[in-house]
Amino acid sequence: MAYSDDDKERVLNATDIVALIGEQVPLRRVGRRFVGLCPFHSEGTPSLSVNLEQGLYYCFGCHASGDALSFVMNTLKIDFQEALEHLARRSGIEISQSQRDISISKSRRELHLTLLARSRDWFRANLEDPTTGRIAREYLKSRKISPDAIKHFGVGWAPEEPDLLRRAIGADEDDFVEVGLGYRDDRSTVRDHFRGRVMFPISDATGRVVAFGGRILPELASKSSYDLPKYKNSPETYLYHKRRVLYGLDLARAKIVQLDEVVVCEGYTDVIGLWQSGVENAVATCGTALSDEHFERLKNFSRRIVLSFDADGAGQSAAERLYKFEQNFNLQIYVAKIPFGKDPAEVAKDNPELLPKMVTEAEPYLRFRLMRLFENSEMDTSEKRAKVAETALNMLIEHPSPLVRSEYLGLVADATKISFSELKNQVERRSKVHRRGSQPSSTSRVYNVSEGDRAALEALRHLVNDPLELSEIISPRLFRVSELSSLAELACGCTSVTEVASKVQASPDGLSDLFFRLVSDPPTSEVLDVVSTFVSREALYELEVITQRLRRGEGSGDLLSLSNQIAVARRLVESIGRGENIADNTGELITWLLEVRDGK
Ligand code: UTP
Ligand code: MN
Repeated sequence: MAYSDDDKERVLNATDIVALIGEQVPLRRVGRRFVGLCPFHSEGTPSLSVNLEQGLYYCFGCHASGDALSFVMNTLKIDFQEALEHLARRSGIEISQSQRDISISKSRRELHLTLLARSRDWFRANLEDPTTGRIAREYLKSRKISPDAIKHFGVGWAPEEPDLLRRAIGADEDDFVEVGLGYRDDRSTVRDHFRGRVMFPISDATGRVVAFGGRILPELASKSSYDLPKYKNSPETYLYHKRRVLYGLDLARAKIVQLDEVVVCEGYTDVIGLWQSGVENAVATCGTALSDEHFERLKNFSRRIVLSFDADGAGQSAAERLYKFEQNFNLQIYVAKIPFGKDPAEVAKDNPELLPKMVTEAEPYLRFRLMRLFENSEMDTSEKRAKVAETALNMLIEHPSPLVRSEYLGLVADATKISFSELKNQVERRSKVHRRGSQPSSTSRVYNVSEGDRAALEALRHLVNDPLELSEIISPRLFRVSELSSLAELACGCTSVTEVASKVQASPDGLSDLFFRLVSDPPTSEVLDVVSTFVSREALYELEVITQRLRRGEGSGDLLSLSNQIAVARRLVESIGRGENIADNTGELITWLLEVRDGK
């Protein structure tokens, strides 16, 4: 009774791990992660960290880690097969062995959609009720969400009082749970999922309600002794697939087609704020990262996608994903110029007139990143300008089109005062190296550093998981990507993963996502294989740099010692390649590399 890898992949992709774990322990969003109390050991401060995009969890306290399947196996004490079936059922996915379970007849589907529509109406009536809805109306008013917007988006209110909804809509227990409006508690009593929350109905593209997002009122959140999540969304059901659904698409659809443009944001209130400010073609993801499925849908409506959130916060890995989307789906991705650190809902409240302008003045993603780099960098010396150029070129080479690359090269030349032809040489040479190493990744949840950096990432994975053993060998200065070297810096000298974890948590550099990814997926490779490959790659890179410099007649030291240096490193790389004395040769190559880098 084996399931295919494909079944496993599909089940994991359909499972929202934040929602899954969130049913057991309240999770709170911190940056791009969610945190909460770990269910695997008893604790007073939250050390469980959940990464939605990776679909992984990790506990900084007890080091429990894994994906949605292992979470279910460990909490429900069931085996892999049962866990797979459990999650498949939960997401309405058919897997090889359980097809018989899932034959939801058409009339049941109709019944379920009716129950969801009745719920929306009931929530709406509660909001309008002079007494019941008063605090919610006041809250919406304080956020300057207008009565028109409330009506247009069907916003409602789920009262604090428990377990009113099921009777109000006349649902039987099984249906109520199945459509995600309720759950069974540990005594098998069916309870309401949403209480004391402002309700945003989520509809499919034809306007039928399939789920809800509920926002806690600030005063209820602070009154509660639990750490309630700000938003609670319906669990994944056979009607509601988070990775596919876009909030507001049903309402914005006509406008999107008419303008051939869609504005994509992160939150319900962003879509509403934009609408109030006259931008009627906005949609939002519902607590998940933008996925292939989202783009798959959007491309049917418009070619121009304007991201209206801090697209740069996601950094380098996001860039390559977005270019891939542009290529695969033939789209153009722009970034709206939102004031730093704000979301559209906040702008809508304070400066609504800015919003339409921010959308029309959106810039192509690459231009946006370059301009932000130039704006935030000091460039008063040639060294500083060279460093900025270096970073800019690394951004450029990620773009797959040579035409686009050279278009922006002029921008880099202007900003850094480095000659266009010099920059052009650099970028074309590097992009060859960059692309030679890249292979399409099989799944979307693989960490998306460019493949050229894969050896570096693997080496770092070893270091982070075993700092005691590897601090002596792997120096932070071996890494050229600053995010990787910063994490190596933290890990070096630590004696345990726990120590690295606490340093990462205390560090302001936003390294926890990377750290988390690396420890929740420990290395399976041989450390020597990884380090020798990584070090050889780095040496080849430095050799190329030195050779170029010699060719341009810019050799710093005397020629003889430089060519000696080159010969030594070449010999070491070749020996390693032939598998000779790998440990010693790698050690020597590391010494060589560090000397070269120190000399610079
Ligand atoms: P944000 O935390 O940016 O919320 O989450 P927001 O949209 O600015 O909310 P307001 O303005 O404070 O009301 C963005 C989106 O991430 C999901 C929700 O879909 C939210 O709209 N999210 C956030 C959750 O699912 N759970 C949470 O606890 C937080
Ligand atoms: Mn907001």
